[in-house]
Order: sequence, then structure tokens, then C-alpha cells
Amino acid sequence: MEAIIRIPIIVCLLFLMGIPVAKSVCQFPSYYDGSWYHRDSGSDTNLIISATSGTWGVDRECFQKVDHDKIITSDGVNATILLKTVGVNCYICMDVIYRSIYIMQYRRSECKTEGDIKLCEGISKLPEHNELVTMFKQVSPVMNCIASIEGLFQFSYEINEKGGGICNNSENILEACQTPGSPNYDNKDFLMRFRVCPDVQTSFRQTIRYKCMGTWVANMNNNTYTFVGLAHDETGVLQDKYKCLMTLRDQHSEDNTIRWGLSRFGDCTNLKSLEQSPIRIVLRRVAPKTSFMIPQCILPRNLTGTWFTQGIQFASSVWINDTHIYYRTMMSQFDYEETWFACQANLGTRFLMSKVVVGRCEISFVCFDLVPRHDGIVRYRVGRSVKLPFTLDERTRDKDFLVTSFKETCSWQWLTFSRDNVDWKYEVLIQNPPSPVICPIGGRYSFRQYSNDFYQLYDTRIRGITLSPRNKISCLMNVSEFKSCHGDMSKMEIDATYCETVDYRGRPIGEYEEPDHILTCAGHWLEDMKSYMITYDEEDAISKFRCWVYERISWTDIALSRSETARCPKNQNSRSYEIDGARFYMALTETERLFDDCPPRFDSGITPNAKPRTLYTLYSGSQSCFFSNLQAKYFMFVFLVFNFFSFRN
Ligand SMILES: *[C@@H]1O[C@H](CO)[C@@H](O)[C@H](O)[C@H]1NC(C)=O
Ligand SMILES: *[C@@H]1O[C@H](CO)[C@@H](O)[C@H](O)[C@H]1NC(C)=O
Ligand SMILES: *[C@@H]1O[C@H](CO)[C@@H](O)[C@H](O)[C@H]1NC(C)=O
Ligand SMILES: *[C@@H]1O[C@H](CO)[C@@H](O)[C@H](O)[C@H]1NC(C)=O
Ligand SMILES: *[C@@H]1O[C@H](CO)[C@@H](O)[C@H](O)[C@H]1NC(C)=O
Ligand SMILES: *[C@@H]1O[C@H](CO)[C@@H](O)[C@H](O)[C@H]1NC(C)=O
Repeated sequence: MEAIIRIPIIVCLLFLMGIPVAKSVCQFPSYYDGSWYHRDSGSDTNLIISATSGTWGVDRECFQKVDHDKIITSDGVNATILLKTVGVNCYICMDVIYRSIYIMQYRRSECKTEGDIKLCEGISKLPEHNELVTMFKQVSPVMNCIASIEGLFQFSYEINEKGGGICNNSENILEACQTPGSPNYDNKDFLMRFRVCPDVQTSFRQTIRYKCMGTWVANMNNNTYTFVGLAHDETGVLQDKYKCLMTLRDQHSEDNTIRWGLSRFGDCTNLKSLEQSPIRIVLRRVAPKTSFMIPQCILPRNLTGTWFTQGIQFASSVWINDTHIYYRTMMSQFDYEETWFACQANLGTRFLMSKVVVGRCEISFVCFDLVPRHDGIVRYRVGRSVKLPFTLDERTRDKDFLVTSFKETCSWQWLTFSRDNVDWKYEVLIQNPPSPVICPIGGRYSFRQYSNDFYQLYDTRIRGITLSPRNKISCLMNVSEFKSCHGDMSKMEIDATYCETVDYRGRPIGEYEEPDHILTCAGHWLEDMKSYMITYDEEDAISKFRCWVYERISWTDIALSRSETARCPKNQNSRSYEIDGARFYMALTETERLFDDCPPRFDSGITPNAKPRTLYTLYSGSQSCFFSNLQAKYFMFVFLVFNFFSFRN
């Protein structure tokens, strides 16, 4: 009787005090309904909550209830509830944290004699992680919440008892696979195979399928952890049925491993940090095992080696042998992804490759179209990948499966047409470390440089040690200089301010200087009527490899546009400097001086394998030179014209 009169007064009071009150009628939401497992002071307990009658266990009932504001959008709300014990003057504050339809956590107070929810601590401050008891609903969960566990892993485990010891059996495998068509689809569960290590007493042999009950995030000691409630349905032992899993958010370990803390029982409070967890697990990504990784064909022999390739977003280092291609792609400063390809079928330049990504479950097929290697460059295109259809038994697969896959995956249409990628550009593998090749642009030039970003421009800097002491004579004439001369034709030297003043010997003072930037040529080719070149600069902090588009715009002028990475954007031309991915352009004008001994040369890359190398040795060095400079140039011109026509034929 008393209670009924008191409720409206309290509600008014609460309103006046500005405390969030959503509902005053003391009823539990429907998701409270059911039987809940929890470890109440260390023993297995089943709690029956009835939403309709408002009872909590056998002898407590809802007296007052305050819903808290939602911090995150979820189906349920956090609440503070005042429970009255039937027949006794005992009121208990319960702070109930909603985690999922299968998991709730609570903090319980001691018996209070006053039935006033305002006096509950949780009204002003909700409990912390370590104050909470976790309740698991006693049903078989159907929940999709382990997106963060997706993949295939080998793991080591360490149990905190009987002296412990780490068991790192290579057959400890965690499988969280999303294979369409397989019975375990949709991220509702994952499989852990625990195997025995002979020298670790606590190790055991068991295969457990864990189902997901809910996931949430909590802060502890300035770290953000992700918690996952797990159920092991198939066990008859109630104690072993529920587990709590903890992992650090944004975990970036150098070896690409993932660390987990796992509880022994259905209890999350014991998880205080990854190191202090009762069961510690270290996951390593592994590649799925498949007979399709056994090679069936051979890649061109001269592809063997280590390479570099720049994707649209991430760069990869690539390793190739006769049969396999391996990509290692840095996804961030810490995380990398490893991909394996194995040769399955080959016709001409097209290679059907099976593909697996380390840590991912699916096996797929993809077609590589490889242009024959020239210098340190291999150009290739990759078709769309097709997933290997799931069959429970590999032996039932069609014998002509590879032939069919080849037809499907390597058809020219698949290589050249994708709806959003009509004008195709080849990907490029660059030999890494690069082997220098003769630069397609040679001679001595002055240049003007263009960029909207000051930092893109070449500026003067003092590289390393100056071999001879710098001349004290002040420079009267500064020019820009770009040159690639007979000394080392695989290098292009760029000096933003080169001193052209001569000293007492009649030599330019600049001769004593080291060039500001030295680019090594790694390869060049012609594609879509555009000449591309790759350079290498060990000292380039942004990208050691750079892609350039170059073009001869008159007999004495050359335009070059530099991309920001080793990949030239599709819309880049020789004068681009205002597009995404290419923000620098330089215009060269020939400035060969009498004693420079630096004949201009230009190679558009039209026939990379049939280059007449003799052109460069025609006159080497001023001492032995019997052509005058003018004659040499005339000769060059004739030769170039001749070349031009002979290529045409
Ligand atoms: C319930 O409280 C916890 C702990 O303060 C918080 O992390 C969670 O987001 C809250 N839930 C909702 C639905 O607001
Ligand atoms: C655990 O075993 C895996 C595979 O068997 C191995 O790659 C890894 O280096 C081992 N880890 C440790 C810490 O020994
Ligand atoms: C958490 O961070 C605060 C401020 O950044 C610091 O004062 C405190 O000592 C840290 N606590 C722990 C447990 O590291
Ligand atoms: C190529 O590499 C794969 C993977 O490491 C290896 O299994 C294979 O034996 C290698 N092939 C040759 C011909 O060395
Ligand atoms: C590499 O091999 C292919 C054929 O297998 C050949 O066409 C190409 O010229 C070779 N390239 C080099 C640089 O040896
Ligand atoms: C040329 O550059 C040097 C060093 O950068 C500078 O000291 C000198 O004054 C410049 N001379 C002229 C004529 O600009």
C-alpha cells in the first residue's frame, strides 16, 4: 500500500532533480525474460527473471526502475533497478548493463532498509568493468557478432595453472570461415582445435565450436578492449559452457599476431589485461590448406626474383619463383597482408593462378596476363578473381574444373572489361633492388619546374660529403641542370641551382659540386602512346620508386611529369602537375656546352628489346672525339631519323 502512494512522489522528485527517468512502471523489458547463467560469488547460478510478473529470482521483485540514456544505439537500455525482497525489509540496487539480447551484466548492492532508488549509487554513476557480474542467457544463441575474428589462424595457448607453459602446436587452428554454401556461414560461430604439446602439462586435445553471444567495448587502464561472450553449446558441463574473451582494440604487434585473453569460466571480471588473463592466446594468420596450391604450370623463368609493385592504395613487395607469386602488402604502418598465387594453367601470356590470402578462408582463381619482361620491368594485368565453389568433398570436383576456370577467368573479356575500368592500364612489377638501365633521356638540359606544392619541387641541398672543398668564389650565374651523360647513362642528375661561373682554370665552379638529386633509371616502356619511366632514388623519403610520363615536345625540349608514387595515374600525361597522384612537372631545354661531352638521347620506349645500344658509344669522351660538337649533333639527328623510319617498317 505504502509503495503505491510513494512512487508518484518519487517520480516528481526525480523529474525536478533532472535525473533521466524514462519509465516509472516497474516492469522488466521483454529481453530480461528467461533463465540466466552467472557465477555468483564463484559458483554456478541460474537466475530466472520473469518480465511479465516483474520477478527477479524466487524472492525479489521489481520495486522501482530508472532507465539510463542510451550512449550507443542498441536494442536494449542500461537500467538501475530497486528490487524488494518479498516479506523482508530489504531493498537491493541493481545496475543492469545491457550488452546483447544474450548477455547482461549487473552490480548488486547490499540490503538497504529504505526503498528509495535515489539512494542507489548507479543513478549517478554506472559501474566499471571490474565491478560487474556477467549473465549469459541459457539459450542456444544465434548471433552474428564475430566479424573481428574472421579468418584462419594458428594459435598458441597458455593456461595459468599447474606451472603453465605455452603450447604452440602447429595444429592448434582457429577457423572462422565464411564459405558460402557451407553449413557454418554468417559469423555466428568459429572452431578452435586445441592440440596437445608433450611438454606442457596443461595442454589438452579438444575441438570446440564457440558461438557468439554478444560483443561490447570497455575501457580499462586507459586501453580500449573488445569483449566477446562465447557459448560452447555442445558441452554437458555447465561450468565450461560460457567463456569471456577479451582483445585489445587496434592491436598492432610487429609480427602481425593477435593476442587474446580468455576466461576459464563464464566470468569476465578475471580479465584484467591480456597478460593477466587466465588463458592467453596468440593468433597467427595462416593460409588455407588446399590442393590448388600445388602448381600445375611454370611461370616465365626470367620472372624469378624480388619485385616491387605499387597498387592504387598500397605498395607490395613481390617475390616470384618458377611456380609461385607472393605479395606482401603493407596495409598500415604495422599490418601487412600476405597473398600467395600458384600457377594452375597457362596459355600464351595468360596464367590462371590459384590465390590464397594468409589469414583468410577463401580460395580463389585469378588470371594474370604477363607482358614479357624487358629490363627490370614486368607489366601485367590481373582479371577479376573468382571464388572456388564450396564442396564438402574435393574429390567430387569436376575433372575439367581447371579448364572451365581458365575459360571463365582468363577470357580476354574478363581481362579488358570490367564495368568501371574500361580503359585499362597495366600494372608494373619493378625489379627490387633495381638493376640500373640506360635512361631514356640523356643530355644536358636546363629546366623549369612546376607544382602547386612547394615541397614537390627540386631544391638545392648539400648531399653527403663534398669531395673537394667548396670554392669560395661567389657564384655569378646560377642555372638549373638536368643531365645524364656518358659517364653513367643509367643516372639522371638534377641540380636546382648549378653554378655556371668559371674558375681560374676556366672550369665551371659547379663542377666541384655534387648534384642535389641523383635518379637511377629502372626501366621504361611505351603504353597507349605514352612513354613511361621508372626511377629509383634511395634518398627519396616519399617513394623510392617514382613513375614518370615523358615526351619529346621539340628537338630540344622534353616534358616530364612525375607521379607521387611508383604508379602513374591513368590520366597522367607528360605535363600533368595538377592531378591526383601526379603533382610535379618539369620542362627540359637542351643546354649542352662545348666541352660537356653529353650528347642528347631520347628513347620513347617503343621497342624496349631491340634498342640499338651502339648509338651511345659513337663518340665517347672529348679526347678521342674527332667530330665537332655540331657534327655529332647532326649525326645524332640523322641517326634518330633513320631509327624512326626503320622502326616504322
Ligand atoms: C551501458 O553502459 C555501458 C557502461 O557504461 C556503456 O558502455 C554502454 O554503451 C551503455 N549502453 C547503452 C545502450 O547505452
Ligand atoms: C608457433 O608455431 C608456429 C607454426 O608452427 C610458428 O610459425 C611460430 O613461430 C611459433 N611461435 C613461437 C612463439 O614459437
Ligand atoms: C591513464 O592516463 C592518465 C592521463 O593520460 C594518467 O594520468 C594515468 O596514470 C593513466 N593510468 C594508467 C593506469 O596508465
Ligand atoms: C616456389 O616456392 C614455393 C613456395 O615457397 C615452393 O613450395 C616451391 O617448391 C618453389 N618452387 C621451386 C621450383 O623452387
Ligand atoms: C624473358 O622471357 C621471355 C620469354 O619467356 C622473353 O620473351 C623475354 O625477352 C625475356 N626477357 C628478358 C629481359 O630476358
Ligand atoms: C647563386 O647561388 C648561391 C648559393 O645558392 C648564392 O650564394 C649566389 O648569390 C647565387 N648567385 C646569383 C647570381 O644568384
